[in-house]
Amino acid sequence: MLLEIKDLRLAFERRGEPIEILHGIDLEVAQGELVGLVGESGSGKSTSVRASLRLYGDEAELTGSIKVDGVEMIGADANTVRNVRADKAALVQQDPRAALNPVRRIGDSLAEQLVRVHGWTRTRANDRIVELLDTVGITHPELRVRQYPHELSGGMLQRVVIAAALSTEPRLIFADEATSALDVTTQAEVLAIFQKQIRERGVGMLFITHDLHLAGAICDRIYVLRRGEIVETLHKPGLFSEATHPYTQTLIETAPVMKKGVES
Ligand SMILES: Nc1ncnc2c1ncn2[C@@H]1O[C@H](COP(=O)(O)OP(=O)(O)O)[C@@H](O)[C@H]1O
Ligand SMILES: [Mg+2]
Repeated sequence: MLLEIKDLRLAFERRGEPIEILHGIDLEVAQGELVGLVGESGSGKSTSVRASLRLYGDEAELTGSIKVDGVEMIGADANTVRNVRADKAALVQQDPRAALNPVRRIGDSLAEQLVRVHGWTRTRANDRIVELLDTVGITHPELRVRQYPHELSGGMLQRVVIAAALSTEPRLIFADEATSALDVTTQAEVLAIFQKQIRERGVGMLFITHDLHLAGAICDRIYVLRRGEIVETLHKPGLFSEATHPYTQTLIETAPVMKKGVES
């Protein structure tokens, strides 16, 4: 199992009092599986992901178990956490501009992680980056690496961030609303890149979205999250027809929002 979460509870300290946000989550992602985590805004999707990669400090209290490719993350030392982030798992978030340094060339930002984390030579890193940008559908990658984030569209930047995530060949990818800000065409292209990684490299993916219809179209299995609790798990085939929880019904009835083609 690439991701195995058992009875995960998370509380944030607020004015000296712990406020529990996740109330005992159980969730699994196997190799080659595309698994959805769906819930409305504020249900705890991002918190679950950030907890899985131990991106919180002392402000969050965690109990239960989170195993990434067999490695227990709760209680793990800094070195173990660093190794998991460097070798096993990657995170793609919604806003690529926040993930990239605005005053550095795209190529430098991407190369840095390969040089720093993996000790690659700059030449080897550069070759790999050009290859990766090509993989995510960026034309003329050898020119793009010399550009700055503000010179690229949102859709292009999201591809750059995905290339960065793929650069370490992670076995597990967390995609947190990674396609939510994209127009429908770019969204479809990015989903195709994800699906290719899953099919060809056996990547396991936790696909986080507020859009149950989108998850239903692509995922093998969907966990429905409501206020920090998984209220229902839907399996293919069938998916929506097996939904029994009223909250899931509400999400099903929520019409998908069509996005305008402003970004590409
Ligand atoms: N660092 C934090 N400190 C306190 N509360 C937080 C923090 N991060 C998230 N929360 C709370 O946790 C809940 C879930 O948030 P989040 O996981 O971001 O939801 P989602 O990604 O599903 O929209 C929200 O009520 C939010 O206010
Ligand atoms: Mg979120």
